[in-house]
Parts: sequence; C-alpha cells; structure tokens
Amino acid sequence: MTVTVIIGTQWGDEGKGKITDLLARDMDMIVRYQGGNNAGHTVVIKDETFKLHLIPSGVFYPNVVCVIGNGVVVDPAVLLQEINSLKQRGFALDNLRISAQAHVIFPYHRDLDAAQEQKNEAGRIGTTNRGIGPCYVDKFNRRGIRIGDLGNTELLRQRLAWNILEKSFQLNNFYNYPVNYDIDQLIADYTKMFNEFKHLVVDESTALINQAVNQNKRILMEGAQGTMLDVDHGTYPYVTSSSPIAGGACSGAGIGPQEIDEVIGVVKAYVTRVGGGPFPTEIIGGMGDQLREKGHEYGATTGRPRRCGWFDGVVMKHASKINGITQLAITKIDVLSQLEKIMVCTAYEYEGKTITDFPTDIYRLAKCRPIYEEWPGWNEDLSKVTKYQDLPVNTKKYLERLAELAEAKIALISVGAERGQIIKLI
Ligand code: GDP
Ligand code: IMO
Ligand code: MG
Repeated sequence: MTVTVIIGTQWGDEGKGKITDLLARDMDMIVRYQGGNNAGHTVVIKDETFKLHLIPSGVFYPNVVCVIGNGVVVDPAVLLQEINSLKQRGFALDNLRISAQAHVIFPYHRDLDAAQEQKNEAGRIGTTNRGIGPCYVDKFNRRGIRIGDLGNTELLRQRLAWNILEKSFQLNNFYNYPVNYDIDQLIADYTKMFNEFKHLVVDESTALINQAVNQNKRILMEGAQGTMLDVDHGTYPYVTSSSPIAGGACSGAGIGPQEIDEVIGVVKAYVTRVGGGPFPTEIIGGMGDQLREKGHEYGATTGRPRRCGWFDGVVMKHASKINGITQLAITKIDVLSQLEKIMVCTAYEYEGKTITDFPTDIYRLAKCRPIYEEWPGWNEDLSKVTKYQDLPVNTKKYLERLAELAEAKIALISVGAERGQIIKLI
C-alpha cells in the first residue's frame, strides 16, 4: 500500500483530523492537498487538544514528513502562528515542508471575502472569511502570488502592484469597503514572514512526493472540507473554492490517479454543516440542539454553531461514487447513545418520485423531502469500547446499515475524540 487519500464525505468536520493522526503513526508522509485555514482539524492526544488549520494532522510524529501541497492556499501569518504555537507545545516541526507552488493569501483576499459576504446579502455563502475564495480566484485567473514568489522581491512588487490597483478599486468603489494598501509595507511584511519559514519551503514538492511514491513509502493525503463542499460536486454555490474530493489529491499534490491505492471516506454517524446552503436532513431545534451539545458541534475555525441532522444515505452514495471510497471511518457514534430511535435517510422524494441520486441543482434539491428509516437506539456508553464485538447489537445494526448505504466496508469506528478511542476492523 503506498498512497491513501482521506476525504470528508459530508459538509466537513467529519473527524478527518482525528483519523489522519491515528493513521499517521504508520506513515512516512502526510500531504494536505487543498483548502487553507478555512479548515479546522482537531486532534486530541491524552488531555491535550490541538486545532490544526494548515499543518497536516500527522505533524505529531517527528519521523513523518508533512507537506503542505501545491493545491493549498496559505496565509503566512496563520502558518507562522501555527508553527510557533506547536513549537511552544514541544513539537520541533523539522518534519514540515511547504510547496513553493502553494498560493498566498493577502489582506485584499480577506477583505474581498468579507466585502462580498456583506454586500451580497442574497448570495451570502457564510464563508469562514479567511480569503480562501478570492485567493483561488486569483490562482485560476493567473494573477496569484505563490509561496516561492515571496523570495523574489521584483516579481512580488510587480504582481502586487497590479493586484492592489485592481482590488482597491473594486473594494473602494463597488463594495464601499474602504481600503488603502501600502505596497512597501506589504512587501516588507510578507518578505519578513517568508524569511521565517523559507527553510521549510521546497521548490519541487511534486518531486519530493513522487520520489516517496516511487520508493513505495506509505503516504497519506489529507483532504480538508468535504465532498458536499466540493466546488464541482457539492451544493454549488454553497461550497468552498477547491476540490476536497479524492481526485483533488492528484492535482493538489501532483500524483497520478493510478498511484492511489485506498480512499478512506470519513463519515460522521450523523451530519453537520456550518454556513449557509441546503441541508436536506437538518433537524431544527429539539433533537438538532441536543446533537450539537452532545457532540460539541461548534466550528473549530470560526466557533460558529454547526447545524445538525440525521445521516443522509443519498449524500453518502454520492460521496462513495465521486471519491471511489474503498474504506469507511465512521466517527462520533458515541454521540448517538441514549437516543430512543435514530433516523436514517435512504432516499429523497422529489415531485412524487423516489430518487437516490443526489440532485446537483439546489432548486431541485430544495423540493426534495428525505425518506427515513427508523432504527432503535442503545443506552450504553461507547466511549471505552475497543472491540467491534463489544458494541451493543443495535449499534452494530446501525453501523452495518450505514456501510450498506455507502457500499463500502468499515475500517475504523471512532468512539471519542481522543486518539485511543477507536475500534479497528481491518
Ligand atoms: P475535521 O475538520 O474533519 O478534522 O473535524 P473537526 O475537528 O472540525 O470536528 C470533529 C470534532 O469531533 C472534533 O472536536 C473532534 O475532536 C471530535 N471527534 C472526532 N471523532 C470523535 C468521536 O468519535 N467521538 C466524539 N465524541 N468526538 C469526536
Ligand atoms: P474542515 O476541513 C466545515 C464551509 C464554510 C462555508 C463554505 C465556504 O474543518 O472540515 P470558505 O471559507 O471555504 O470559502 O467557505 O465552506 N467550510 C467548512 N465547513 N468544515 C470545514 O473545513 C470548512 N471549510 C469551509 O462554512 O459554508
Ligand atoms: Mg473541521
């Protein structure tokens, strides 16, 4: 086994950080391949909690090389903050590498993100306000600035000059969002930050990764966000601006698709979503609030309360198909203890018909009603269970139903936030 990709199957926050950390022990390399500091990946080791935004969740193992890949967008201030805070907590971070091809977030990206969200009330996405979308826009519009460019002052000045001119005009005149960027200050600030981490920058990150592939090293690609936030395959336009799906690992790390051996779909035993947009199995009030409190469902990046709902088999089938999931890691099953009954959505009703293919159009989706199966709950506390056979019979039945809907086998079942709270099946 060489390359394994870990992806979120829902709207993010499935527990990818925990699963990545868990598997990292047996890996040689972990690569983050898309997104930026919109991500919040939580790793709990004993009684210490770490929230990672940019640095791959394998960083706690000093022998595992952790790469921030070319597909990631990097806010250097956040990166340094994260590096320094981990150093203070005793991690040397000599194992971190940053691709010179990763794009850089500038203040005008954050300002554009905020201004768009403020002005376009009807089209508000509920972004994390980290400048992610505007940074990817510049990347695809071929006017982005990459990590490697920060070491070339002449190029940086030239690219910044145009960007500042354009963005200032847009922000001041169209968005009524007053800004005044000082190019010399920006160059000074970004150069200073670059100098602090340039020893970690690799010019040819794809060469580094492919060398590891050729040497049959064990490599884990860590996705951020989730399938339903994918810019192509999610609930567009209520999505993020990158490709969190398994295919995104090919472009975001620079490997061939045939190199991917396993795709682990991380599945929360129920569903959550932060920000706006459709969510067919959402539970408003009552049980939704109960799940939020019991599961501590508050954003790891923005602290916003997560919307909660029942497991959605239509979303699951969509995620299985698009990612080519080979194994499942089901998380937070412990949160469902003590419920009398648990609902599982198996299909949608759309204009009198039963459908199981996820509608790609949000107007059609808005007309869909979830069709539920009712499963009996269990009372036992699962947080200390380490063997599958020790799970209550109703928990097993519920898990088996999820696997059936996902058309994939279960490899891992997580029963708590801590690293050791896991049931391994494979
Ligand atoms: P990610 O973005 O996919 O890495 O997920 P987050 O870290 O944003 O959100 C998952 C939350 O659930 C974090 O607070 C984790 O510590 C926690 N968590 C992960 N797995 C489990 C689990 O099996 N049970 C419980 N109770 N909490 C978990
Ligand atoms: P992890 O990796 C949950 C959501 C935002 C918003 C939409 C677009 O922790 O699972 P953006 O700032 O990316 O332009 O916002 O995407 N979003 C996430 N939701 N978990 C995340 O990451 C998310 N990253 C972005 O809330 O709805
Ligand atoms: Mg998260």
